[in-house]
Parts: sequence; C-alpha cells; structure tokens
Amino acid sequence: LSRLINMKSTDTTRAPIQGNGLAEVVAATTRLSDVAGEQGRLVLAGYPAEDLAGRVPFEDAMFLLFRGALPTAPERAWVQDALGDAREAAFERMDELGDALALPDAMDALRASVAHLTAVPGDEPLTEAARIVGAIAVFATAWGRGTSRVPPNARLPHAADYLRMTSTRAPSPAEVAALDAYLVTVIDHGMNASTFAARVVASTASDTVSAVVAGIGALKGKLHGGAPGPVLDMLDAIGEPEAARAWLSETLCRRERIMGMGHRIYRVRDPRAFVLERALAQLEAASTARSLIGHRLRLARAVEKEAEIQLAAHHPERPLKANVEFYTAVLLEAVGLPRTQFTPTFASSRAAGWCAHVEEQRRFGRLIRPRSRYTESRR
Ligand code: COA
Repeated sequence: LSRLINMKSTDTTRAPIQGNGLAEVVAATTRLSDVAGEQGRLVLAGYPAEDLAGRVPFEDAMFLLFRGALPTAPERAWVQDALGDAREAAFERMDELGDALALPDAMDALRASVAHLTAVPGDEPLTEAARIVGAIAVFATAWGRGTSRVPPNARLPHAADYLRMTSTRAPSPAEVAALDAYLVTVIDHGMNASTFAARVVASTASDTVSAVVAGIGALKGKLHGGAPGPVLDMLDAIGEPEAARAWLSETLCRRERIMGMGHRIYRVRDPRAFVLERALAQLEAASTARSLIGHRLRLARAVEKEAEIQLAAHHPERPLKANVEFYTAVLLEAVGLPRTQFTPTFASSRAAGWCAHVEEQRRFGRLIRPRSRYTESRR
C-alpha cells in the first residue's frame, strides 16, 4: 500500500503547485470580459466599461453578454419584457419560498430563495438568465420587508423597478440612472471567484440555477462582494476627513484590512471606481439631497487618499488602491438602498454574468478538476 501511495503521489509532487490562490492560472477563454490589471481597463464584450455604464441600460448589457452585440430597440424591449415577466412570476410564487426570506442575513436569504428556482429543460440561455436575474431582483428587494413587499411593475425598465421595489418612496430618474450605471458596471469581471465557482458547477453538466447558487455563496464573502457594507461602516466610523489618518493607522496596526482597497488583478485604481464616481457626480448634480451626497463623496475621497498613502507605506511591494466596492458603497447609499442590500444588489447584476459564463462553459469547456498534492498528516 505504501508503494502504491508513493507511486500515486509522484506525479502531483512533480507538477508545479498553484498554491497562491491560482493567481497566475488562466482557467478559460472567454469573450465576455477582459480585465487588464496593469492598465486598469475593463472591457465588456468588446466595449470599455466606461462607454457602457451610464450610457446604456442594464437590459442592453445583458443582451450584449449573450449575443455579442448591443440590441436594437425591439431586442431591448424583448429583454425588458423578459425581465419584467420574470419579476412578476417570481413575486407570484413567493409563498413557495417558505422561510427562506426570513433568514436574518440577506445573502443567506437570497441563496436560499434562488435555490427554490428550478431549471427549465431546453430553455434558451438569455431567456433562462432573464428568468433568474428577474427573480433575484424580487428576492433581493423583498428581504426584510415582511408582508409589505412591493409587487413588481413588469413594464418598467429593470433598474427603475428594482429601486421602486426597494424604496418606500418613488425613486427619481437620476437615482434610477445611477443604479442602472452600477448594474452595468458590475455585470461581469473576468474569472472572479464567484464566476469561477459558477463555472466549476456548470463544468459538471449541472444546471444554471445550481451554478448561480454557488456564485451567490462565493460573492457573499467580504474579500469579494461583501465589502461595500463594511466600507460604509468604515466611513461612518471615521465621520470626518480629518479623522481618517488616525482611524486607518489604528486599523492597519491591528493588522486588519481596509475594505474597498486592494485587488487581486488591478495594480492601479480599479477602473470601475472612476465609472461609479462619474455616476455619483451626475446623481449629485441632479439631486435635491446634493449636500448629503457631496459630503459623503468628500469623505470617501479623503479616506481613499489617506488609505492609499498608508497602504503604500505598509506594502511598498504591492500597490493597493480603491476597488469597485469603495464607491459602490457610496452610490448604493445615495440611491437609497440599505447597506444590508448592497451585496444582494451586486448579485442581482452579476448573476447575468454568471449565466453567460455558464453558457460559455457548456459550449466550450471541459470538467474543471484540478489536483491536490497529498501531504502526510498522521503523526
Ligand atoms: N488592507 C490592508 N492590507 C491589505 C489589503 C487591504 N485592503 N489588501 C491586501 N492587503 C495586504 C494583505 O494583508 C497581505 O499582506 P501580508 O503579505 O503582509 O499578509 C498583502 O496585502 C497581499 O494580500 P493578499 O490577500 O495576498 O491579496 P489578494 O490578491 O489575495 O487579495 C483582496 C485581494 C481584494 C482580497 C484584498 O486586497 C482585500 O482583502 N481587500 C479588502 C476587501 C475588499 O475590498 N474586497 C473587495 C474586492 S473587489
């Protein structure tokens, strides 16, 4: 037996081990998005993210991922209707979710609710994605509302209805535009952890809903999609720009991470931070709550600047700059979302990316099955 173990372990001992979080591994080819970490560039199916966000609605970005081109007006209307119908269908079947939406954590509730969906055999990929994305919008906005859930209006654009279902007040067009810009910005982002998780599930020939549930599980973590709530907690704790230096210094001395800073791929500021700042500036210009948004933005910029300086001192070997979550926190707060809903809102857009990757994985991929190197643990 020991000879057998030795023989078996030989090939994994010789193989180069990718223990470093798979940082250098290219795990798939994709036409969906390209993340250029040194240049700070994000391309979504051929378009720089900044050319799409704030310029086309979420429906267009979703169509683009699946069809490789921006939609015509009738095609956009078709996606809008598919999402609207899906929101309506999900709302009508909410009673079947049992206690899923009563779970105390919003992402646990989303994961449990989505797990109730079932795949429809033979569904066309964009139709299936719309069904899942529409349902996620309903589950994400219904959490924490008990019986005072707002039913969807299937004829509205997706971002407008998402905000309408969330707020107790009617959202302004500028708030809808800001949320729409956010949803487009985060729809896809290369082989991030949740997308990889979704692709691994899809690679086993499992169904899309299961892949999306895996994506939600990965997104929940604060190293991935769970950071914007803690970013806002940090801004609240700092309070005023003058307090940033001491607060950040104490946090780093305790060897804690600054949320919203650093990225696995980007070595410069995350390009999505610029896009979200632009959307925020437009929202501020159009808003009656201008001074509130302006105050938050000034604080966020001061904290970012100070965090960059201190992180450079702590980690001269590695640039740690603002990532997407930093301004996600400010934007989602500015459009009126509670911080518990930040990560579910991220999921509500990224689910479209997961579904598109699932489709790609099915068409071109192979079972994802890396190896591990056995190390003797018996003492
Ligand atoms: N604050 C403080 N230190 C940080 C940091 C941060 N935001 N991000 C990375 N570091 C430090 C780590 O502590 C580590 O230091 P060490 O070598 O002394 O232990 C070093 O930088 C490398 O970190 P590592 O975890 O290997 O980098 P990664 O590429 O695996 O991680 C993130 C990338 C995004 C997970 C990381 O930057 C992070 O935790 N950021 C904060 C959470 C966040 O904003 N998540 C949203 C990402 S979009």
